Amino acid sequence: MISTKMITAINEQINKELFSEYLYISIQAWFADQNLDGMANWMSAQAQEEHFHAMKFFNYLIERGARVKLKAIEGPAVDFKTPLKAFQESLDHEKFISKSIDELMDLAIKEKDHATKSFLQWFIDEQVEEESSVDRIVNMLKMVGDHGHGIMMIDRELAQRTFVPENEA
Ligand code: FEO
Repeated sequence: MISTKMITAINEQINKELFSEYLYISIQAWFADQNLDGMANWMSAQAQEEHFHAMKFFNYLIERGARVKLKAIEGPAVDFKTPLKAFQESLDHEKFISKSIDELMDLAIKEKDHATKSFLQWFIDEQVEEESSVDRIVNMLKMVGDHGHGIMMIDRELAQRTFVPENEA
């Protein structure tokens, strides 16, 4: 039986994942406005991934016979100033999400909720990958600085990203 506390915390996490989607499409819009279509594409794929995360929590609650209760999504920032600042904002956000997932795991452990612990392990592993992929881009952008040619090369690389949801067993 999943506790009321756990249900409330997962509902809050659904809101955070949907906010992540909102933040990344806001950054996508900013990149599109800067004519950096590859970076806009990367953010679009990232936003789709966040939607997938939100729905994974959503479906888990339903599977456990619990009620999903959606809340208002906060408005994201709209101006990101430079590509580096935009990706830095994504990295800071991912660190915030990792902390939030860790807190969910702490709660599941405290409540001896083994099913939720097992479910959350996927997110713990996923956050390692999420932080590392954004960190890599932040480092590349730091390396190229204001050099237009370097930015264009990164933009070209990020144009290759597509979102493929993993097959769930
Ligand atoms: Fe759903 Fe990027 O964390």
